[in-house]
Amino acid sequence: MSDQTPASETVRGYGSGDVSTVISVEDVVRQAQAISDERPSVEALDALVEGEPFVSIQSLRAGYGKMEILHDFDLRVGKGQSLCLIGPNGAGKSTVLHSIFGFTNIFSGSITVGGVDVTHLSAQQKLKEAGIAYILQDKSVFPGMTVEENLLMGGFLKDTVDEAKEATEKVFAKYDRLAQRRNKPAGVLSGGERRLLEISRALVMDPEVLLVDEPSIGLEPRFIDMVFEILDDLQRVDGKTIVMVEQNAKKGLEFADIGYVLVSGETALAGKGDDLLQNPEVGRLFLGG
Ligand SMILES: Nc1ncnc2c1ncn2[C@@H]1O[C@H](COP(=O)(O)OP(=O)(O)OP(=O)(O)O)[C@@H](O)[C@H]1O
Ligand SMILES: [Mg+2]
Repeated sequence: MSDQTPASETVRGYGSGDVSTVISVEDVVRQAQAISDERPSVEALDALVEGEPFVSIQSLRAGYGKMEILHDFDLRVGKGQSLCLIGPNGAGKSTVLHSIFGFTNIFSGSITVGGVDVTHLSAQQKLKEAGIAYILQDKSVFPGMTVEENLLMGGFLKDTVDEAKEATEKVFAKYDRLAQRRNKPAGVLSGGERRLLEISRALVMDPEVLLVDEPSIGLEPRFIDMVFEILDDLQRVDGKTIVMVEQNAKKGLEFADIGYVLVSGETALAGKGDDLLQNPEVGRLFLGG
């Protein structure tokens, strides 16, 4: 995973604010905690869901080794909905995705997808049996391999090579931009095309749930818009359920139906993405406003 640098060393800009105007991570944490005296109730989280919850996390305590990062964490998102986690560096946003996919130690609590308890499934089982895909980001493509070979890697859990090939062709049919470059080494792709390849590789297993960690990271603005259009299409047209982390809080909240502000392993605020965008405190802390 790419998130192992201690939070204190990875102070980044929030939203569109200039780095020099950004307040320290510690200040953001302190002020974000002060936004809400109480964290949102489970009923409040349920009220944001359309229909039944599809991905549901109950009172999760999880972390790495013996260290607990998420404390009594709850999450709810309906089928075909999108949820974006924002919050300061080190808040535990990536750890939520890691926990859903099976990369953390789960001390207590549970995770269900489509009513099935997936809490203790391995990452392989999550991908193959539970329809959950984790979109690896940033330099996760194999530059010396062709676009096609990279996509085939996404199908390594399929029972036969033919099945993997068939699934790969479906992805090419959907994304002409990749099809045109199928025999090119992935190393020559532009940043945006590479992100498309990373997303597509996860689609080879035809997942129901996409876990996406910072899709906009390292991309020029025009590619950022492209990536959000791709995710929008996957949600609205293909009905995928998306749980995302986004440092670019404005883009993330504009995109997502539901937003959670995570602070020190707990949800400080939850609301409709549009409502959080309008929240002056969220604006001040995370939107560079
Ligand atoms: N693989 C790991 N092993 C041990 N500790 C980890 C690991 N990954 C993250 N942590 C720690 O867990 C805490 C939460 O990290 P996490 O990566 O979830 O934060 P984040 O909200 O995604 O931050 P960022 O915005 O910087 O990506 C941090 O203190 C971090 O140092
Ligand atoms: Mg992270």
